[in-house]
Amino acid sequence: MLYSEKVMDHFQNPRNVGKMEDADGIGEVGNAKCGDIMRMYIKVDPETQVITDVKFNTFGCGSAIATSSMATELIKGKPVSEALELSNHAVVEALDGLPPQKLHCSVLAEEAVRAAVRDYYDKNGIAYGDELRECPGHCDSCGHAQCEE
Ligand code: FES
Repeated sequence: MLYSEKVMDHFQNPRNVGKMEDADGIGEVGNAKCGDIMRMYIKVDPETQVITDVKFNTFGCGSAIATSSMATELIKGKPVSEALELSNHAVVEALDGLPPQKLHCSVLAEEAVRAAVRDYYDKNGIAYGDELRECPGHCDSCGHAQCEE
């Protein structure tokens, strides 16, 4: 079996799909390898900095849908700072793996979460470090997941 049961489940019944009209942060990213795109919306409690709701939309493959669905489940109810630590590898692990040739698809979800948080920080005047700045996606020296692929 090429795909795990969890991947099939999240592909066929993706969680948290849709648009959020009153999002506090929106991240839109493209996958440098295939050109697929994803948009992620987050709602953040300003008092606690906890992500209270997440939604995503993607023009991506099944693996992108499954990883995004799992990523939304993993960050919902978590503080923003914790969501930023979510790596594509952790999402893939939570899905019991992806075929090697589809690993690049999982980068979309990680990137979209980071972009949504960055947008939230920008809109609220919250300072952040270089590690959260937009990754060019085509270098091999910054250590970013997308560049490690
Ligand atoms: Fe583009 Fe999977 S092939 S995200």
